[in-house]
Amino acid sequence: MESISLRQYFDRESCTYTYFIFDPISKECIIIDPVLEQIERDLESLKIMNLDLIGILETHVHADHITAAYYIREKIGAPIYYGSKSGVKDSDYLLEDGESIQVGKYSILTIHTPGHTKGSVSYYTCGMLFTGDTLFIGSTGRTDFQGGDSGTLYDSIKKKLFLYPDDTKVYPAHDYSGIMFSTIGEEKRWNQNVGKGMTKEKFIESEKEKDRPYPKNFDIAVPANMLCGKKINE
Ligand SMILES: [Fe+2]
Repeated sequence: MESISLRQYFDRESCTYTYFIFDPISKECIIIDPVLEQIERDLESLKIMNLDLIGILETHVHADHITAAYYIREKIGAPIYYGSKSGVKDSDYLLEDGESIQVGKYSILTIHTPGHTKGSVSYYTCGMLFTGDTLFIGSTGRTDFQGGDSGTLYDSIKKKLFLYPDDTKVYPAHDYSGIMFSTIGEEKRWNQNVGKGMTKEKFIESEKEKDRPYPKNFDIAVPANMLCGKKINE
């Protein structure tokens, strides 16, 4: 039986995963979280696989790299989607919680999962969750900037993502040790921040105590990403 297809790509510099999700029959495809430096790779991959890009989906306004969304749209005209609370300018669609995008015969569901940033979203399709920086493999995204909030992040994970069946695959926006995916069941058991035994109070307290460095590309990436990745002064 035919099922939806997934390709996972990696940017070494920012340790970002970019995903192609496509219907192998209709060839309609969406891309999640493309990275500016990898635009040639992604456009070439679309061409080689003969895919029709119908949407560029962002999980949130990234602080560590510039998205390729703006320049992919410039090249091939695919519309850009963000969560409706992201605050970005110049996207084509702002997705509400529970809203879906159709890719061939498959549906991609938007789940608002604020906490890492105010406008963070996750996407679900066919037993796979694309969790952005909300839920990492074994950890969670930082909560100390861009409208982040540790209690909100905890609730997004526990009350939304952890409601999915244990065998649901978790595909994050980053992994810094090379792990490509995990499952909801594994995260419920072993995630050091929100796994078994971790209360909301404990999580909030531990987030407060973390001394995290200022992201090195923050001042370049965030202003550009608020314009869908359009570089300032261009
Ligand atoms: Fe992020």
